[in-house]
Amino acid sequence: MSIDVRPTGAAAGAEIFGVDLTKGLDSAGFAPIQAALDAYGVIVLRDQKITPEQQIAFSRHFGELDVNFNAKRFGVSGSPEIYIISNIVENGQPTGTRRAGETWHTDMSYAKRPARVTMLYAVEVPVLHGLALGGTGFANAAAAWDALPQSMQDEIRDLKGVFDFRGRKRSSPVSAEDIAQYPPVEHPIVRTHPRTGRKGLYIARDDCTGIVGKDEPTALALIEALADHIVRPDFVYQHRWRVGDVVAWDNCTVQHRAVQDYDLPQRRLLWRTTVKGDVPH
Ligand code: OGA
Ligand code: MN
Repeated sequence: MSIDVRPTGAAAGAEIFGVDLTKGLDSAGFAPIQAALDAYGVIVLRDQKITPEQQIAFSRHFGELDVNFNAKRFGVSGSPEIYIISNIVENGQPTGTRRAGETWHTDMSYAKRPARVTMLYAVEVPVLHGLALGGTGFANAAAAWDALPQSMQDEIRDLKGVFDFRGRKRSSPVSAEDIAQYPPVEHPIVRTHPRTGRKGLYIARDDCTGIVGKDEPTALALIEALADHIVRPDFVYQHRWRVGDVVAWDNCTVQHRAVQDYDLPQRRLLWRTTVKGDVPH
């Protein structure tokens, strides 16, 4: 199998050609895929036709899988590692999380050990007048760090943010039990990538509710300034989904946001897997 990696040309993302995920990968086959994710923060594999088991098997190459707190309601039966992102309603009941991740964020920053990698597989993509809707934006937070003036880098290099599960508005109700599982945590707002050593900003509106040692107005002003800097158009790759896309991203390197520009009867159905990560440093 010969693998071809083509960068998107935007600040993040590369498309990988020559991989068929219905066939197993050995470690030699997986190495260039991991390398592309390390280099570009987001990888895109088009035209895949996979089962939940095949998505889980591919995801496991990146590490141990997390079972999302939402999977209790929105899992695929027999595959709790898959969590359904969808606006489809059946018998009056939602089948998945609708409007997941509508604001810029990085997955599970509210956890002591946030997600390392998240993967989505596009089963149904909303289309209107022949145009795909419901895209996903990815912002390169490492490039955003590199672009900060030295004085700002020096000012924030050692700061810690407070990340709170309750900070973000969620589209489906969250139980007291889920909230209790994720008490507020502190993470460095400038993270060092566990594999590459590259530094990147790690801060977002809503999820990050304070900065250790700063009063609230000062902290909120800094959170907003840095969060807005990360998602400037120069740092963003905008993914337009096609059915069969497998997209995986590195939650240390990039932030992402779902574009909510569609609604039923346009249906969107993605399968998500989540790879556990380390304690940020
Ligand atoms: C997620 C998420 C974005 C999307 O699943 O973590 O933010 O476009 N999804 O569905
Ligand atoms: Mn997300």
